[in-house]
Amino acid sequence: MSLRPASPLLAPSLLSADFTRLGEELRLIEASGAQVVHVDVMDGRFVPNITIGLPVVESLRRATTLPLDCHLMIVEPLRYAADFVKAGADWVSIHQEADPHLNRTLASIRQAGGKAGVVLNPGTPIETLVDLVGDFDFVLLMSVNPGFGGQSFIPRVLDKVRRLDALRRERGLPFLIEVDGGVGMKNAAELVRAGADCLVAGNAVFKAEDPKLAAAGLLREMLRGREA
Ligand code: DX5
Ligand code: ZN
Repeated sequence: MSLRPASPLLAPSLLSADFTRLGEELRLIEASGAQVVHVDVMDGRFVPNITIGLPVVESLRRATTLPLDCHLMIVEPLRYAADFVKAGADWVSIHQEADPHLNRTLASIRQAGGKAGVVLNPGTPIETLVDLVGDFDFVLLMSVNPGFGGQSFIPRVLDKVRRLDALRRERGLPFLIEVDGGVGMKNAAELVRAGADCLVAGNAVFKAEDPKLAAAGLLREMLRGREA
């Protein structure tokens, strides 16, 4: 079954939230109209930062009914991917650059009952997905090099979204396209117009003066992109 939504999805990233008040930050996401919660899992090896692990995902699961989108920036994702589904993740994505056995890891996510995603760093070409088609439910295109929130959007990723959308159309494939990194009011409409179904936003939501208003503004921009 396709994950592709009728209206574009916004996934605020908890990486930019206040970790002492995660429950309240979840309430804020729910009240803003955003439909997905993005959870950045970093291991200090695949990326130079360490963030959230399984116990936090278990706690988040108890605190919201929104889908949890766990972006695993870890080496050897096969060791942990299914555990994230068991901990309550609905979507789990793994980096192509981190795994020589992607089919196996994607299958482990699906077997555990999750939606399986492949993540591509800005420098990894979309052609590498061709022989994995059918094994994933969504593709997450990074528009920054992963590791930190608040980095600048790499503009050439827009064309990558267009090319991935074209490939999807040509082949009649149902996978969802998500974009992560430096997303904000300046590029949200254009990204949706290019073919993105789901946008991750960290700083653009949580570092705004009024995060709820910022998320609502992004959702409006995304709808504008869909209508254009
Ligand atoms: C970066 C993470 C992102 C990050 C996005 O490695 O994968 O999800 O939280 O943050 P912003 O939207 O601030 O670039
Ligand atoms: Zn992310």
